[in-house]
Amino acid sequence: MSGSKFDVIVLGAGAAGLMAALTAGQRGLRVLLIDHADEPGKKILISGGGRCNFTNIHTAADRYISENAHFARSALARYTPAEFIALVGKHGIAWHEKTLGQLFCDGSARAIVDMLMFECREGGVTFAFGKPVSAVDLTDGVYRVTVDGVEHRTPSLVLATGGLSIPKMGATGFSLELARKFGLPVVQTRPALVPFTLGEDEALFRSLSGVSAEVIARAGKAAFREAALFTHRGLSGPAMLQVSSYWEHRTAIHVDFLPDTAGDWLLEEKRTRPKATLRSTLARRLPERLAETLAERLAVEGELGNCRDTGLKAAQERLARWAFEPNGTEGYAKAEVMAGGISTRVLSQKTMEASKVPGLFAIGEAVDVTGWLGGYNFQWAWASGRAAGEAV
Ligand code: FDA
Repeated sequence: MSGSKFDVIVLGAGAAGLMAALTAGQRGLRVLLIDHADEPGKKILISGGGRCNFTNIHTAADRYISENAHFARSALARYTPAEFIALVGKHGIAWHEKTLGQLFCDGSARAIVDMLMFECREGGVTFAFGKPVSAVDLTDGVYRVTVDGVEHRTPSLVLATGGLSIPKMGATGFSLELARKFGLPVVQTRPALVPFTLGEDEALFRSLSGVSAEVIARAGKAAFREAALFTHRGLSGPAMLQVSSYWEHRTAIHVDFLPDTAGDWLLEEKRTRPKATLRSTLARRLPERLAETLAERLAVEGELGNCRDTGLKAAQERLARWAFEPNGTEGYAKAEVMAGGISTRVLSQKTMEASKVPGLFAIGEAVDVTGWLGGYNFQWAWASGRAAGEAV
């Protein structure tokens, strides 16, 4: 069956696809927005614990990981957090800053999806939700997209089906498959913003499940001062999720358990509290069970006054750079995002169009641009969606 002709077809009604569709629609273009899920923006709905951390006021290109570190700069500069905040304000959605520039809705994340859908309707966008896409082909500069046995045609196709994280929610590698089909390279994908798993050799730490502490976690040159959480499988919490995006298999991550101590603080403790033990000293700064585990691992016995300075110095150094060697991560089932994706080398940073395949655009998480935790991934989705929506 032959369907309609559209100026642009957007595949994926998530954060980026909704923004691209509403932008193009409000420019007067005929837009078809397709999603295999029966409702749009499912990840928006569950994001930020149901309150959607929709942007971060500290957005800057250096908070994104990509083979091309500068790629995101242009789109991010042209659609800023302030612009999204203005849109949220126009819809009367109340919000607050939680921490580190992260903006959350006061109420439900559904308000963000409703806002984007309202704006799509204002732009006269046609929706095709709840039906699988069975074919996408390109002939003579025309993209043909078949949904539910109906073939739609367009000169501009936007790939916006997101990344591979949370397959249970319907995540697929569809944009990656289509990119390959049209000859675009894909940077090796991997789970990111994901908890680490620890092996049996770290059973002592795994038994701390539920304990958290503010630490500095490091992987390579990346360092994040935030909460770390021990789980029955390993390490989670914002600090660990952040470094997971930079972590390479079979390397160690390093944790500073006492970021507010400096110099020879433990020797100072020995002088001022000679009767204290390492465990009680740590317990003044860390949760009791963590203090106990660290003291047990460090094997510094008895009162500090009786310990040799060399032993205390070594303990001090280890506490500032505790090495964990994760045996893996919890994978896409638990990852907040996918790192890697459609290579930025073949996309225009201004328009998101593939340089060698006219009319093919890629946006959002499907592209090799991965933000830090804290609203950065949505800001990338909005900004890249806006860039494509203005260019199609
Ligand atoms: P997104 O995943 O939003 O949308 C892709 C769409 O494509 C979906 O609607 C999907 O159904 C559709 N699709 C997939 N395959 C298809 C196919 N084969 N055919 C048709 N349609 C298909 N980020 C942030 O900044 N702040 C936050 O608070 C959070 N919180 C958060 C929590 C959890 C649990 C997760 C998993 C992720 C987050 N994120 C986040 C990350 C954020 O959700 C993510 O980066 C963006 O949603 C990416 O937007 P996209 O539009 O690229 O993909």
